[in-house]
Amino acid sequence: MKILVTGGAGFIASHVAEAYLGAGHEVVIVDDLSMGYRKNIPDGARFVEMSITDDAFADFVISEKFDVVNHHAAHMELRVSVDKPVHDATINVLGSLRLLEAARRSGVSHVILASTTAVLGEFIHMPAAEDHPVRPIAPYGVSKRSMELYADYERITHGMSITTLRYTNVYGPRQNPHGESGVIAIFLEKFMQGAIPTIHGDGTQERDYIHVHDVAAANIAALEHRVQGTYHICCNSAASVNDVVRALRSALGQNFEVHHGPAKPGDPARTRGSYEAFSGITGWRPLIELEQGIHQTVRWFQADHSEQ
Ligand SMILES: NC(=O)c1ccc[n+]([C@@H]2O[C@H](COP(=O)([O-])OP(=O)(O)OC[C@H]3O[C@@H](n4cnc5c(N)ncnc54)[C@H](O)[C@@H]3O)[C@@H](O)[C@H]2O)c1
Repeated sequence: MKILVTGGAGFIASHVAEAYLGAGHEVVIVDDLSMGYRKNIPDGARFVEMSITDDAFADFVISEKFDVVNHHAAHMELRVSVDKPVHDATINVLGSLRLLEAARRSGVSHVILASTTAVLGEFIHMPAAEDHPVRPIAPYGVSKRSMELYADYERITHGMSITTLRYTNVYGPRQNPHGESGVIAIFLEKFMQGAIPTIHGDGTQERDYIHVHDVAAANIAALEHRVQGTYHICCNSAASVNDVVRALRSALGQNFEVHHGPAKPGDPARTRGSYEAFSGITGWRPLIELEQGIHQTVRWFQADHSEQ
């Protein structure tokens, strides 16, 4: 199949593109390189540098006659979304809608969208399943929720085949250590540079971390099973920032120092999701334990640094 992967020069979608290539598909990547890197684009993929916010993007999607669209391009810096909600919405709402409309007009047979459990806001009960209340607390969550609602509209009203995948905290090779989120990549980079990272609060806040290879496998499963609707992609496990630091120290073989700073307002104490619904349809489940995933990520960062 001919598959468009948006955001494929970024962290997650470069792995998704690689998985699709490995499964024998033809992959075209569209990315404006605002946050992604050419070096992330896997061999064998065709690359088109373009923004999903350009009018020309819709014409491009229609003219290329893709079989499948996998949409990961997004603005995802939460704090920037607070300062510049219009910028965030222009990419995440209007860019996604432009893509959905073009995909429908060109007869794309299936669409996969990357969303986030940030649409839930505060986790009221855990593990959070898909019927958890949706009350996003930042413009990023609002814009991703809007994308989900447009996907529901396209599916219900126009009969499009669409899977929406809500990820928890994704980590692994190629994660940008200079972003605002992604504590594993950020701390790892700081430790490797001899800098001291800051833990906001006492480090007991827990997150449901999922390895990017498990996320890529979920994108394969969503395509193979033509899954309809919105699903959580997570591990149903919770590790604290202190646990992450311990695992990084163990993988690096050194007792690196950390600082503690004030807790971030609005930072939830715990997040944890349930992947049962998606697993029930596809048989997919996360395979990589956090400690093993952190060791593998450390080895990748070390190899990447030694190449520079
Ligand atoms: N990283 C996580 O933990 C996480 C969690 C939940 C959901 N997600 C979602 O997964 C997707 C990928 O996230 P990521 O962590 O790989 O981020 P990333 O920043 O590494 O990748 C996003 C890519 O999109 C590209 N992009 C941004 N705006 C664009 C535009 N207007 N036109 C074309 N390309 C554009 C960037 O250049 C980048 O390469 C996003 O949709 C994000 O919301 C990520």
